[in-house]
Amino acid sequence: MLEPSAETYASVVGLRTVRRFRPEPLSPDDRDAILEAGRWTGSSKNRQSWTVIVITERAQIERLAECGDFTKPLLGAATVLVPVRLPDGYDWDLGRMSQNMMLAAAARGVGSCPITFHREDCAREVLGVPDDHGCRFALAMGYPDESAELAGRSSFSMGGRKSLESLVRNDRF
Ligand SMILES: Cc1cc2nc3c(=O)[nH]c(=O)nc-3n(C[C@H](O)[C@H](O)[C@H](O)COP(=O)(O)O)c2cc1C
Repeated sequence: MLEPSAETYASVVGLRTVRRFRPEPLSPDDRDAILEAGRWTGSSKNRQSWTVIVITERAQIERLAECGDFTKPLLGAATVLVPVRLPDGYDWDLGRMSQNMMLAAAARGVGSCPITFHREDCAREVLGVPDDHGCRFALAMGYPDESAELAGRSSFSMGGRKSLESLVRNDRF
């Protein structure tokens, strides 16, 4: 069991996407800690029907950036993680794993952004992933470029959330 922790709660609620990164690579310790958080994610029937492709090769990242419509954060990322769903796996499990890796990254000072491959076949081809496996999403990761992030944010109207009242229904839809 985890100990109750206000800090952990604040990290969960406070996790925001980071899209602008400094150029240095992830330290091996940070990379491994993030992957370890992915490895320990609970999955349906504990099947663990997933694998994670770790990409640092620039040419490979540039090819992947062609596979989605909003992939710019990939181009500045130090590392790109692509969680791959094996044929008997569930998207729910991969979503949990991705969020865990994002939270673990944030706990180590690493920023991250989920990225959609709107053309999943393209990502499969670039990565050599078989047709019956899923690779619809990636995580762009790197140490945040704080000043670029702040400047970029002010010109975006992103952020904020719907109210709790509009989120929650009691007992019935
Ligand atoms: C499934 C999923 C796919 C996403 N795809 C992209 C994407 O392709 N490009 C991008 O820049 N952000 C992408 N995002 C990030 C969302 O835009 C972000 O979570 C949302 O705007 C909330 O951001 P915030 O937590 O920083 O407020 C994706 C997020 C999720 C959960």
